[in-house]
Amino acid sequence: MQQAELIERIKELKIKRNAVILAHYYSRPEVQDIADFVGDSLGLSQEAVRQTADVIVFCGVHFMGESAAILCPDKTVLLPEIDATCPMADMVDIEGLKREKEKHPDALVVCYVNSSAAIKAESYICCTSANAVEVVNSLEADEVIFVPDKNLAAYVEARTDKKIIPWEGHCPTHHQILREDVLKMKEKHPEAKFIAHPECRPEVLELADHIASTRGMIMYAKNSPAKEFIIGTECGLLHGLHKAAPEKKYYCVSEFACCPSMKMVNLEKVLFSLEKVQHVVTVPYNVRIRAKEALDRMLAVKIR
Ligand code: 13P
Ligand code: SF4
Repeated sequence: MQQAELIERIKELKIKRNAVILAHYYSRPEVQDIADFVGDSLGLSQEAVRQTADVIVFCGVHFMGESAAILCPDKTVLLPEIDATCPMADMVDIEGLKREKEKHPDALVVCYVNSSAAIKAESYICCTSANAVEVVNSLEADEVIFVPDKNLAAYVEARTDKKIIPWEGHCPTHHQILREDVLKMKEKHPEAKFIAHPECRPEVLELADHIASTRGMIMYAKNSPAKEFIIGTECGLLHGLHKAAPEKKYYCVSEFACCPSMKMVNLEKVLFSLEKVQHVVTVPYNVRIRAKEALDRMLAVKIR
């Protein structure tokens, strides 16, 4: 089927099913273009709550659809690709987290939304890359167990007085961006600002002119007087950057900064998902209730 026909069929089925399409900035460009809303993890969770549609087609990885299903139990949340999972989310296990909690009885658990519903249910509060510092600083406790991203944990640790106990997880896509990659690109593009996602290594973040979530990176590039930017995150963000400020130039910091899971969702799978009403995301009731508490606490934290 040609792309134009695929898009037409998707539009018809969206009306028939009373569905909306939400997509993360790392999705394929053509998927972002058919979405009703494109955002970062925080924006997508907030948008899921705002939606009045019966069906949400979530173009992203599993934990994102799961967060929408936790927050919106009355809606049908569909994942076009059930095998699109986040490797970092799989780096933390329940038994290990319970052991860590026993070792640090006074600490509260903050979990990055890039985690399973079961891990969220074991946590006090969630955070995203857009609000991690505000979330941690909003807590009464002086000690925080931060799961699963050690790089985001280090970023937060540098911006809080609280003791951060990090988990040994990381995002393979961001972790393989090296300081040398940045230095090489800076040499090639001396006028460019380097903007980076906090999932990058600390020694990479040290070189950044600005550190932010995906949406924050787009806002910075759009509002900055600079004309060129080296982009320290997954390459899918370039599409959103070109749309937000097409007159500027963007250089991906590394040709390998691509998340294979995020690229698994394509237009055919979106259409199939709407046609067959699959794959429905379900979360067991007792897990959902506790995970929702952690997400609701996060959504109540005010950010700048
Ligand atoms: P944000 O969109 O929240 O910046 O997250 C990036 C990410 O890695 C999502 O998987
Ligand atoms: Fe997970 Fe990293 Fe891919 Fe985001 S970019 S989904 S954190 S592996």
